[in-house]
Amino acid sequence: MAIIVNEQTNQFYLHTKNTSYAFEVAHGLLAHSYWGKRVNEVPPIAELYPLTGDNLDAVDLPGFKPHSSDVLMQEFPTYGSCDLRTPAFHAVYKDGSPITKLSYKGYKVYNEKLRPEGLPSTYANEDDTAETLEIELFDELKGVTVYLYYCVFEEKDIMTRFVKVVNNSADRFTVKSLMSFCADFPHMNYDMMNQHGAWAREAHIERKPLFVGMQEVDSKRGASGPNHTPFVALAEREATETAGDVFGLCLVYSGNWFGGADVDRHFRPRLMMGLNPFNFEWQLEAGESLYAPEVIMSYSSEGIGLMTRQFHNIIRKNVCRGKFRDTERYVLINNWEATYMNFNEEKLLAIADAAAELGVDMLVLDDGWFGKRNADNCSLGDWYVNTEKLPSGLKGLGEKINAKGLKFGLWFEPEMISPDSDLYRAHPDWCLHTEGRPRTVSRHQLTLDLTRQDVCDYIVEFLSKTLSENPIAYVKWDMNRHFSEAGSALLAADNQREVAHRYMLGLYSVLERVTTAFPDVLFEGCSSGGGRFDAGMLHYMPQTWSSDDSDAVERLYIQEGLGLVYPFCTMGAHISAIPNHQIGRNTPIKLRGQVALPGQFGFELDLSKMSDEDKAASKELIKTYKEYGEVFHRGDFYKLASIFKGQNSAWEFVSEDKNTVIVMTYNIQGKIAVPSKVLKLQGLDAKARYEEVATGKIYGGDTLMNLGIFQNCDRDQTSDMRVFKKI
Ligand code: DGJ
Repeated sequence: MAIIVNEQTNQFYLHTKNTSYAFEVAHGLLAHSYWGKRVNEVPPIAELYPLTGDNLDAVDLPGFKPHSSDVLMQEFPTYGSCDLRTPAFHAVYKDGSPITKLSYKGYKVYNEKLRPEGLPSTYANEDDTAETLEIELFDELKGVTVYLYYCVFEEKDIMTRFVKVVNNSADRFTVKSLMSFCADFPHMNYDMMNQHGAWAREAHIERKPLFVGMQEVDSKRGASGPNHTPFVALAEREATETAGDVFGLCLVYSGNWFGGADVDRHFRPRLMMGLNPFNFEWQLEAGESLYAPEVIMSYSSEGIGLMTRQFHNIIRKNVCRGKFRDTERYVLINNWEATYMNFNEEKLLAIADAAAELGVDMLVLDDGWFGKRNADNCSLGDWYVNTEKLPSGLKGLGEKINAKGLKFGLWFEPEMISPDSDLYRAHPDWCLHTEGRPRTVSRHQLTLDLTRQDVCDYIVEFLSKTLSENPIAYVKWDMNRHFSEAGSALLAADNQREVAHRYMLGLYSVLERVTTAFPDVLFEGCSSGGGRFDAGMLHYMPQTWSSDDSDAVERLYIQEGLGLVYPFCTMGAHISAIPNHQIGRNTPIKLRGQVALPGQFGFELDLSKMSDEDKAASKELIKTYKEYGEVFHRGDFYKLASIFKGQNSAWEFVSEDKNTVIVMTYNIQGKIAVPSKVLKLQGLDAKARYEEVATGKIYGGDTLMNLGIFQNCDRDQTSDMRVFKKI
């Protein structure tokens, strides 16, 4: 039993194999009592975490300890009564009152995984033991019901939470803030971890000690990143990759989100994550409900590495869906950096010939195949083929590529509209805009208004038509600008602040329809690279183009950074040309190949112009990928050395059956007369023996883990891949 309710003590326990989470009903409020390593019992909240000097507080819990909800550790605090810290829920009612007071009403346990309607989420497979606890809270005066849903994946050491607010009154009210997760911690001996970035520099890892006050990361961009990705963690100050308490949260959402810790005057952090309250207001009509997206909670008592592996496991198996979830996907050649928009059929077929020779599976035609698009200043929305460039159309080109033994994939940017397009001329009000303000373009384009049903239907229609009339096996779903003047022509004045969330609901409905209708098509997300790399998008598309920066050295940072939360099977990673187009760096093909290998491997350069030497190396890399891709994609990841801490890094992957171990090592800058780095492997069987494939040498698992192997760091831009097999 993962969920245990003690009706005598009013305590609720959520247990996974190794972790526990507990709360209690105290004076009608939900008091948070524990999150951490597995325990069978937790003392009553009145005995927990005593405080001295709580003088300024309003006494709303008389005769109880603590006597005020302002110092009570809480699960779902609301604004307006006595808890004056940042609330998990804030609403304003018809009479102008901003006060909500929720009391515990009841609970239900479900032997299944419940899901938030209309939003992406985790789901249970047949072999998962997943249960859901529903807690009902009620404000009688205002007719507000809040349901908290705690889902427990017992074997995976993962819990999740999402929230549903229901308006049971006769009048509408305005939701101003709604968190998916909220829990108070008893002390502040933690660092906050998050991923920050920018275009072409995504997901760099940040770790800073908590301070008293609010520390937060968020997105106000209409997409989840790239400034931060929807992840925060509290890690004990002393926590390392392999030791210490770490509490990670990952939001299954792709729009404006918020995550942070508000450390109060008694040095107690309130960790929160949910919809971004900034510029958010939701008019909840009588009888209607609103969901806060699901947050995935990964607690580790063994350092950051275990938190990461738990996230990888759940995202890979319980967030990503569809036919391609568990299969090895395609090695692809994307023509973007090979030709940009300057291509014709002849050029593409020459690339396809070279690709077929190397053993590549698919050619992807990127931007520039439609309308009159020869530059990025027009035609988004005019999704009909440019026959000047492609005289035999998409069908003819696709068939010619198929005849060479390759699949054919195509780029779209479905959510966008160019002012210079037939679509815009026909429907000037179909883009996000605000009356009286300029429609500011970014990359010469505007964002379609996906809060509108007619716009969503149009996207489904043109995609369905193109995908069913042509031999298309893969779609790259790009999104190259974030919001400005985010208003909608169809929404009333009071509903304009709903645009960002309504947009996401529209997008998710489109993705659900299209991916369900075309289950054999592999979809890859992209937002100028990793501008929307999140678990929400991964629910519909099992991989995302990680970054527009395809330089191997930069990718060491970006892929390690993303890998803190997201498994490598979700990261598009390609070998590109040198000098690198983004930063001009020259790197050897071996480094470029070995950095790309652990991700969804491919090429992003003109293969028809590749040297024979690079072709031979690429053939070998493809062979290696076909042999070991499964280990990178479904194995456990251990970070042995981090590029954020020095000039070298090392990533270890242990196959699902634990029989194959791969250690990838990378060194950016050589140093002479310094000792080699010691890499202590992890996750092996100490008693087993392992043979290194390249040398035939045999090592004990204990030796590999305790003594380690060595990485020479005396040369610039070097890399290695060492494979060990259990014997
Ligand atoms: C941004 C993507 O990240 C690139 O890979 C490429 O598809 C361009 N858009 C095309 O416009």
